[in-house]
Amino acid sequence: MSEGGQLWAGRFDGGPAEALQALNDSLPFDRRMFVQDIQGSRAHVTMLAEVGILNDNERTSILDALDQVEDEMASGVFAPAPGDEDIHTAVERRVTEIAPDAGGKIHTGRSRNDQVATDLRLWVKHELRELAQLVVVFQETLLGRAESAGDAYLPAYTHLQQAQPVTLAHHLLAHGWALARDVERMVQTLDRVDVSPLGAGALAGSSLPLDPERTAELLGFGAVFDNSLDAVSDRDFVAEALFDLALLGVHLSRIGEELILWSSAEFGFVTLDDGFSTGSSMMPQKKNPDIAELARGKAGRLIGHLTGFLTTLKGLPLTYNKDLQEDKEPLFDACDTVRLTLLALDGMVSTLIFQTEAMAAGADNPFAAATDLAEYLVNNGMPFRSAHHVVGALVRAALAGEGSLPELVSADPDLGPEAARLMEPGASVANRTTRGGGGPAPTAAELERFGASVASAKQDLRL
Ligand code: ARG
Repeated sequence: MSEGGQLWAGRFDGGPAEALQALNDSLPFDRRMFVQDIQGSRAHVTMLAEVGILNDNERTSILDALDQVEDEMASGVFAPAPGDEDIHTAVERRVTEIAPDAGGKIHTGRSRNDQVATDLRLWVKHELRELAQLVVVFQETLLGRAESAGDAYLPAYTHLQQAQPVTLAHHLLAHGWALARDVERMVQTLDRVDVSPLGAGALAGSSLPLDPERTAELLGFGAVFDNSLDAVSDRDFVAEALFDLALLGVHLSRIGEELILWSSAEFGFVTLDDGFSTGSSMMPQKKNPDIAELARGKAGRLIGHLTGFLTTLKGLPLTYNKDLQEDKEPLFDACDTVRLTLLALDGMVSTLIFQTEAMAAGADNPFAAATDLAEYLVNNGMPFRSAHHVVGALVRAALAGEGSLPELVSADPDLGPEAARLMEPGASVANRTTRGGGGPAPTAAELERFGASVASAKQDLRL
């Protein structure tokens, strides 16, 4: 090895400039793939021995060296050397120190280009599945809170204006279904991640008798690459994972936004647990929903990682270009961000107290039953457009101070006292009976369906 210690130093005169090294080195962040890198090397070496490129002694001494490097990395005693550009060179350098003769053969028929794609796919396979499992845990929290909400109801909103009452369970499950799509999407992404690029070499395969199917099998991949050029330049799986996480982040952000509103004095729909809220350094009375605000804020960062990485990819010619090294930091950060956010939001939702009286008081505002009044007229044969107009005129009269809406409805010849009973507390929500709707009867059926959907996601994720 030459001055700088680089594995590629043979062709170079002198070592690399410091500025190049500082920009180029990825070991500080890609060392978190050391388990996958060593796993990939074990499979590669095993295959090389099976096809006769390594003898048994060479295989054993490389595998033993890999075990030792793994221990050193896991325990933190591994000491990087100046030439360790990335995790791949670091592992190979150390293996070769431990097993000088055999170590020189570990990289036979392999390039860092197929190696890094392999490592990252293995890493994503593990991480995305774990994150999907955490989403399911959060879904179960929502399900539990929905089940125990009973017949509690609240006003639902459009345009952030009170619209129609729905059960609290129905509202909570609306977020739960968005998360169900996230889990489904992550499971589908995992399918496309599950392709081994190992054996593509730098870009064109090899003249050596490598067996890419065997390494794929040893690594537990479900499929093998079809095109060596595509295998080393494809980072769709990273972009897809970033999209899945960005959209999940958007869903968590929307949940956060509602919790922020609900915990305000103006809404008063929830009281946050002290352990999951923060105080103000100046105003002693404050209790702030920081977790919910961070859930909302982190979505910006997740969207940024997706758009940033798509921008990195968009102009790249085949095949590997060093730009692709920019895949890891956004991906790692997106995964870490989603993990922390999910755990905190789950804790916040598990522990908050629903103020169901305040919710009911909002929902029992007679105006919230206006659609029910119009539908009452429709049931009596009036065209909906006319019914809408009749009720609208009564609302206008009530707002103009001509009487309360219940009084005006009771006195109306087409509506009358029977219709006015639709404005009694809880009447409007109970009236909503259609499939997937917000009344107690459809909510009971929805809870069943949601429970089944969570159970099947758990099966997909082998939870
Ligand atoms: N550290 C590089 C990355 O993360 C590994 C691949 C480098 N390949 C190369 N031919 N320089 O993408």
